[in-house]
Amino acid sequence: MDKLEELQYKKEKLLEGGGKMKIFKQHASGKLTARERLELLFDANSFVEIDPFITHRCHHFGMEETLYDGDGVVGGYGRIDGRIVFAYAQDFTVLGGSLGEMQANKICKILDTACKTGAPVVGMNDSGGARIQEGIEGLAGYGKIFFRNTRASGVIPQITAIMGPCAGGAVYSPALTDFIFMVDKTSKMFITGPDVIKTVTGEQISAELLGGAKSHNTKSGVASFMDDTDQQCIEHIRRLLSYLPSNYLEEPPAGPLNDDSNRLNLEFRDILPDNPNKAYNMYDIIKGISDNGEYLDVMERFATNMITCFTHIHGRTVGVIANQPSKLAGCLDVDASDKAARFIRFCDAFGIPLLTLVDVPGFLPGVNQEYNGIIRHGAKMLYAYSEAVVPKLTLIVRKAYGGAYLAMCCKDMGADIVYAWPNAEIAVMGPDGAANIIFRDVDGEERKKRIEEYKEKFATPYIAASRGLVDDVIDPADTRKMIIAAFEMLQSKKRSRTERFHGNIPL
Ligand code: HXC
Repeated sequence: MDKLEELQYKKEKLLEGGGKMKIFKQHASGKLTARERLELLFDANSFVEIDPFITHRCHHFGMEETLYDGDGVVGGYGRIDGRIVFAYAQDFTVLGGSLGEMQANKICKILDTACKTGAPVVGMNDSGGARIQEGIEGLAGYGKIFFRNTRASGVIPQITAIMGPCAGGAVYSPALTDFIFMVDKTSKMFITGPDVIKTVTGEQISAELLGGAKSHNTKSGVASFMDDTDQQCIEHIRRLLSYLPSNYLEEPPAGPLNDDSNRLNLEFRDILPDNPNKAYNMYDIIKGISDNGEYLDVMERFATNMITCFTHIHGRTVGVIANQPSKLAGCLDVDASDKAARFIRFCDAFGIPLLTLVDVPGFLPGVNQEYNGIIRHGAKMLYAYSEAVVPKLTLIVRKAYGGAYLAMCCKDMGADIVYAWPNAEIAVMGPDGAANIIFRDVDGEERKKRIEEYKEKFATPYIAASRGLVDDVIDPADTRKMIIAAFEMLQSKKRSRTERFHGNIPL
């Protein structure tokens, strides 16, 4: 065999991963292989592989008999919609995708090169965690990856897709990245599986309920996205990337400019119910503002009283944070605060302007909320908004009361522009709550009269506007037009930071 033939043979062998039987099993369990996933992720014929020939150096427990080129992970770079992106996919057909010293080195090389060149990284995880036969070396490998994930945070977007059973160390690198995708039924994430839990705490639970895509998308808030198949998940990742810049110094790619920037939102004049205590769907407002009514929801199933999504407004990526009045009346609670604060910080790190849509009666009262630290979690929102230096535009759609008015980025929390619709109610607290305190000695008709008086006086946008805390009260029909104009004006906003190592966000 000449040298070229030898190379060709070796390259062809790579395609077999852990062998035909293992690939058959992978497909039979509803999963694609690592190479198939990368092929789908990148634009056609753009994937360039790195380190295909690395192998482990382990000699324990017969491991010298199980040498596979690539060591259970396929990685490299390619193009997504024309832009360079790095990616790696763990190969479950090789030793269960488990991570040893050399697999870790390969992933670290990809992370390092992505940081050096300022390109996003996508990790597709399908792994049983630290390779048990390698012992401390696998553990050390995770340490190296966690360290790099952290150092790359805010430098390049990091995205993880969980595409199989991920246990132990395999879950913490994802948790350090910006967004986690999960595939329903085939992916799992847990630190310890059901058997260990049963032994230690006596609790009995299935792997799916413990760490499946639904659990992490609705209960724990660990995952941001859920899809039905590997194919849909990969398409979803490509879509997310279309809203993001390649790194913190670059602009996100422009969206298509095919929606009128002067389009009126006549439908907004009738969107609010006559009764201010009735709900409506905030997504209708987001659609009306967005180019062609399109947006990408982030953490769609978690803390649904808070909406966080990316959209294009006149072709520019904007991060939207909005209360959802149809869920918990749009109140801020522990989970909603966490969700919003993390999203705000991502946008700010990557220069994505923030649009805050406010309809919030307040923080959710309750012993549960207090014991779960609503003070600490709510403070994350105050901190994240105050810290953010990107353009910040706030639209008060209806209610903006008390601490929640502050937490939803009012003027004094650093909003560059605040607009309000004529129905806006901006006050220290809602009329009924206020009556219980300042009119508590007054009963019957007199009390009703005083509440009405309070409503007329305070439940309007005009007192805030008279103090300059609202820049203008606008006709709802002009909303999209005014938002576009404000973001264009703010495009040249200077972004500077206080000199320090870093602040201390209340975690
Ligand atoms: C070495 C592993 C492995 C591991 C799986 N395999 N996990 N090899 N180290 N951690 C191997 C299996 O031996 C098997 O090899 C092949 O991968 C496929 O695994 P199966 O069990 O047959 O597959 P499945 O039934 O789908 O179950 C997948 C699984 C299970 C749920 C991931 O394998 C499992 O529970 N693995 C252990 C998970 C775990 O406890 N990890 C923690 C590691 S310690 P063969 O040769 O039979 O095909 C850790 C600490 C780091 O990660 C902490 C950092 C914070």
